[in-house]
Amino acid sequence: MSGKDSEKFIDKASPHTVKKFDLVEGYIESWKEILLQTSSCEELIFIDCMSSSGEYTDIDGKTVYGTPVRADKLLRKAASRYTNKNISVIFNDKSAGKIEYLKTLIPECSGNYHVKFYNEDCNTLLHELRHKICGANGKHYLLFYDPYQAIIDWDALMPYFNHWGEVIINHMLSDSIRAVREAKSPEAVSKYESTYGGTEIMRLAELKILYVH
Ligand SMILES: C[S@@+](CC[C@H](N)C(=O)[O-])C[C@H]1O[C@@H](n2cnc3c(N)ncnc32)[C@H](O)[C@@H]1O
Repeated sequence: MSGKDSEKFIDKASPHTVKKFDLVEGYIESWKEILLQTSSCEELIFIDCMSSSGEYTDIDGKTVYGTPVRADKLLRKAASRYTNKNISVIFNDKSAGKIEYLKTLIPECSGNYHVKFYNEDCNTLLHELRHKICGANGKHYLLFYDPYQAIIDWDALMPYFNHWGEVIINHMLSDSIRAVREAKSPEAVSKYESTYGGTEIMRLAELKILYVH
């Protein structure tokens, strides 16, 4: 990928986005250590199903790496220490360019460490992978679901809630409460109903209660 092409895939990361990377990285660090020391755990699987390109610039123009690059670094190192366990990471984004860029930042698979890239709609991918990942003996997964917008496909996530694994959904509620109030088109209303239908968010938005965060 030429320098000019690659720039298209390096987004700006605001301070709260950088904090999100730090928090998820810290969580992965503890999650993997506990499970790798558990004798019944044979394989760890980390999935960032909306992984983006893995590289950003912060508000000072400095390079910052996103969750997939950080997860790869931590889990690759862990695989070299726990050679009797398998560690798999799965990165997906609907943008082909972002996934191609991410591939340039992630080294090859090695030994007991396996990396897979996909370029699909994440909800379709989660449906496709559910039988391989959910409910298999000895496999423990952490699924990171991180959309920019208020689009959460609960049906795609449900199998991952119902088995021995963990799901992190990153979602900015304050943005949505404002957006739900302002939604006018049938498409926008239906998007918010399927994400938040029957929840407190819809009530908060209707009553125009100020959300303080
Ligand atoms: C907030 S960024 C992800 C950041 C990344 N998880 C991290 O922590 O470094 C959201 C990404 O989701 C992707 N995306 C949005 N909807 C998607 C979908 N339905 N399927 C796959 N990727 C999607 C976008 O292209 C964008 O790159």
